[in-house]
Amino acid sequence: MTIANPSDWEDRYQQGTTHWDLGQPAPPFVSWLNAQPAPLAGRAIALGCGRGYEALLFAAHGLQVVGVDFAPSAIAIAQTLVEKQGQSAQFIQRDIFDLLPEFASSFDYVIEHTCFCAIDPAQRPAYVQLVRQLLRPGGEVLALFFTHTRPGGPPFGSTAEEIRQLFAADFQILELVPVHNSVLKRQGEEHWGHLRRSPYD
Ligand SMILES: C[S@@+](CC[C@H](N)C(=O)[O-])C[C@H]1O[C@@H](n2cnc3c(N)ncnc32)[C@H](O)[C@@H]1O
Repeated sequence: MTIANPSDWEDRYQQGTTHWDLGQPAPPFVSWLNAQPAPLAGRAIALGCGRGYEALLFAAHGLQVVGVDFAPSAIAIAQTLVEKQGQSAQFIQRDIFDLLPEFASSFDYVIEHTCFCAIDPAQRPAYVQLVRQLLRPGGEVLALFFTHTRPGGPPFGSTAEEIRQLFAADFQILELVPVHNSVLKRQGEEHWGHLRRSPYD
């Protein structure tokens, strides 16, 4: 699989070999949202959104959500789901690295779920800068990082230490903790990240 090639991801959707797909939002997003003392407000973007489960979840919690994925079938299914559920979320077929300058400083939240582990690890510094520029100053990242240690990928693993090093210069790390309610096949291999873009830069 050529990870930077949208048609390889598209093939996976067309062949139904989307083993990463949970068929529902990942539980840590659900529990985090349910634990919030007040409803969230503002705009969110879900990167590499796939079939859009987290985008739809955050839309149901009152955010204006944009989901982005470069695989046309993923976007088509997300679009169908949003209509079926009567939600309002926008889905865009695009390479995430082509979102700027159009969406610069446009979002209060970036939602990350298995996009960071899907891109070439060499692109991670560019991903961090992309996320920084998509957020308004003070905007937040809500991320479920796949911190497995197997070689190769996708999914490419990472460590809490690497994530800290990548984000620390531009983000306040509010939380970066092991997850206790992962789906069975990812137990012990995920970290929850809640990061805030500096309000001053
Ligand atoms: C492992 S899947 C995860 C999908 C979804 N987040 C989920 O958890 O079901 C990675 C997704 O990112 C998309 N993707 C990978 N690189 C991308 C890029 N540079 N721009 C846009 N989408 C990308 C793929 O098409 C795929 O849908």
